[in-house]
Order: sequence, then structure tokens, then C-alpha cells
Amino acid sequence: MKKTVRAHTNIALIKYWGKRDEELILPMNSSLSLTLDAFYTDTSVRFDETKTEDEFYLNDVQQTGSSLKKVQVILDLVRQQSGISHKAVVESQNHVPTAAGLASSASGMAALAGAASAAAGLELSRKDLSRLARRGSGSASRSVYGGFVEWQKGTNDLDSHAVPVDDADWDIGMLFILLNKKEKAVSSREGMKRTVETSPFYPSWVESTEQDLIQMKDAIQNRDFDTLGKLTERSALKMHATTLGAVEPFTYWEPDSLVAMELVRTLRSEGFHCYFTMDAGPNVKVLCRMSEAKELQRHLASRFGEDHVLLSGIGEGLKELS
Ligand code: DP6
Repeated sequence: MKKTVRAHTNIALIKYWGKRDEELILPMNSSLSLTLDAFYTDTSVRFDETKTEDEFYLNDVQQTGSSLKKVQVILDLVRQQSGISHKAVVESQNHVPTAAGLASSASGMAALAGAASAAAGLELSRKDLSRLARRGSGSASRSVYGGFVEWQKGTNDLDSHAVPVDDADWDIGMLFILLNKKEKAVSSREGMKRTVETSPFYPSWVESTEQDLIQMKDAIQNRDFDTLGKLTERSALKMHATTLGAVEPFTYWEPDSLVAMELVRTLRSEGFHCYFTMDAGPNVKVLCRMSEAKELQRHLASRFGEDHVLLSGIGEGLKELS
């Protein structure tokens, strides 16, 4: 049985940064994200008794090495749970513009968890899909749901999963300022590990994030966009601050990232409702009011170029296509 599932990417507003268990991918802190409709992955899986090895095709190109290994983590868990021993053929199409340089592990691993479990005949609940996706990539646990989503850190493998918070249907969008598509020098996996192990700023990150999360959930409940935005910027700045204290120190920021952040601040002082965030790369994302997004996009594009500023609305959760 071949199953195809679509998952959208998500961007964290309260970041996940650091693991307390590397194999189970249990995070040090709970996080909160927004699922977006502009970027997504469609993944098909079939278990095939004639195959002697797992095969993984990404945008029609067969993958080997670490990229295949990450996929096999999910396949092995599904084989374990279903009792199927056959090898699998996995075909993924990433609908992320090639110039984007955006991480696709969240949508990729969530779509894979959905397709592999369905192809094996497992009828997993959303909660168990989130737990399964988490094992591929922490942020993928959140792509199971649409809108605002919290990944509760939990106490163990069973209760560390995402929960839906709000459908975000209240004039919200996100702009992506694409600055650089180069492969990142320090992956998020390696970067968070180094930070946890060596940065003296790390404990304050964990401690202060708990309060940020409570305040952000309040802001969402009250539809208080500006408090939501301020907390979003604060979480990103604090996360990135921890990397400067690591040994060896590193940063994902590039000169243009700072230019973009400053431009967002300037536009805000001119009356726009816009707040930046950044992940494990130089691109800057801007949380904004959908009703102001087109005008903001024009301002940002006049500095960074039209092809470099993309707009997204709110995305939905995992969806079985066939
Ligand atoms: C900065 O989910 O890619 O985007 O669990 O090691 O696969 P692994 O990491 P990943 O890390 C995402 C880090 C982040 C913040 C976030 O998405 O919460």
C-alpha cells in the first residue's frame, strides 16, 4: 500500500534549542510555533518485499548517507510498531523555492511519519504522529498541527509531543527574507548540542523560556499581537545569544541579517506591526499582520530584492493526499 501525506513547515516563535535526550529527541524546553502554508513537503511511502535496501528519493534524486539514515530512524520505528519487516521506498517532493535555503526537516519528517505509518497500516492518533515525527527531528513534532502549536517538553517519550493552541485565524502572516542559500556551517543539531554542553548562558535560556511561553500563550488567547511579537523577538535574540558563549563560539547571523532586523525595527517605528525571528541560518522571518503584509513586502523587497522576500499565510496540519 502506497500512502502520500503533505506536511507544512513551521517556524518557532518560542524556540526549541537543546535536547535532554539525544536519541529520543526530548527537548530541554517547551516551544511554540506557527505552521505556514507556503512551504511544504509531500512524501509517499510503500513497503516493498522485493527491495533489499530502503530507498529515499528527494525531489527525484536518490539520497544516501546521513540523509537516508535520518529517514531510516522513522522507518525502523514504524517497522517495530507494525511488525512489518520489508524495506521501504520513500519519495519526497519539497515545495520550498530552491533559492530559499530554508530548513525542510520539520515538514519532511512530519510528512514521512504520516506516510510511513499509514503505509504500514498503523492508524496513529495525532499525538502519536507527533511523537513519531519528533524522533526524526524535534521541530517536526509541531508540523502535525496547523496554526499556533505548542510542543510540550513532557517528562518522557510518551508525553513529549505537540498540542494545538489556536488556529491563528486573526490577521497573521509571515514574511521570509532570504539572504543566503549556502549550506549552514553548523547544523541546528550540532549547534544546540554544543550550546547545551559549553555555553554558560544556556541555563538562563532554559529558565527564562518557561515564563516567555506562559506569556505567549496568554497573548495568543487575548489576540494581543504586539505582545506576541515582542516575545517572538525576545526568544530569538536569547536563543542566538547562547551560541556566542559556546566553545567554539558561533553565530548564524550575517551582516545582512542585522540589516534586516534593523529594517524591521524601523518599519515598526513607522507604524507597521512587524517582529523578526531567526533560526539556525542567516534568513530573517517577519511575523506580521496579513493585512499589512503586501505593503511590508514591498518595503523589504526594495532593500533585498523581490525574489528574496516571500509571504506566507497560516498552514494546516498533516493531510493524507492519497
Ligand atoms: C532553531 O528540529 O532541526 O529551528 O531535533 O536536532 O532535528 P533536531 O533539530 P531541529 O531544530 C530546530 C531548531 C530551531 C528552533 C525551532 O524550530 O524550534
